[in-house]
Amino acid sequence: MTEQLQQTPRLMDQPNWVYLLREIDSLYRFWSDGGSVPIRSHRKRVRDRLSAAIAQNPVLIDRPAMQKPVTAHFARALDLGERGAMQGIARALREVRDDLTWEYGYEKVTRSLSQKYAYCEILGPQGPVYCETLILGFVLFAPNTTYPQHSHQEIEESYISVAGAWSENNSAVYAPGSLIFNRPADEHRITTGDRDPCLLAYAWVGPNARLASPQMKLSAPRKAK
Ligand SMILES: [Fe+2]
Repeated sequence: MTEQLQQTPRLMDQPNWVYLLREIDSLYRFWSDGGSVPIRSHRKRVRDRLSAAIAQNPVLIDRPAMQKPVTAHFARALDLGERGAMQGIARALREVRDDLTWEYGYEKVTRSLSQKYAYCEILGPQGPVYCETLILGFVLFAPNTTYPQHSHQEIEESYISVAGAWSENNSAVYAPGSLIFNRPADEHRITTGDRDPCLLAYAWVGPNARLASPQMKLSAPRKAK
């Protein structure tokens, strides 16, 4: 092994990332599927890929820490998360907060959305924990935000609510601990309550090539429901 390879940081060199991934693993292993067969299958796909990734002790990709305007709400979101059912994951996330790379993902983002939304990846093809078969991350919304209708081609997605109250497609109000499953191509639109920010963990499962280049796009306004 060359000296350079020996110096490449790996997951087990950074215990805070390990603990955060294990918190996410616990959610997909021990929380309920609500009796839904498709959700049970999705949960298994997430934890199988995550377990395999952790077992490989993958390399850590050095990504520059990056803030966005919405991260001014991050401390409040963590505080709310630490008081509720998702306190384990909120506390583990706090320990890596200075290393997170917050981004938009879209080539074009409206000024309004650029002030109220951003996400950070934890594990995936872009890192910081390298994995080809799964993307894990967190998305943060300011109070009173509408995240426009969108879908993900070939990618199935689950959100787990960590803090705040929000709704998807006007169909329910979700509290910390809720899991919401979107099949590939399912159109979805998110709104958040007007008092507090909203922090969601998310998992994406799909073909490796698609995860490497998800090509996030908002749906055309004429399709809005
Ligand atoms: Fe989504």
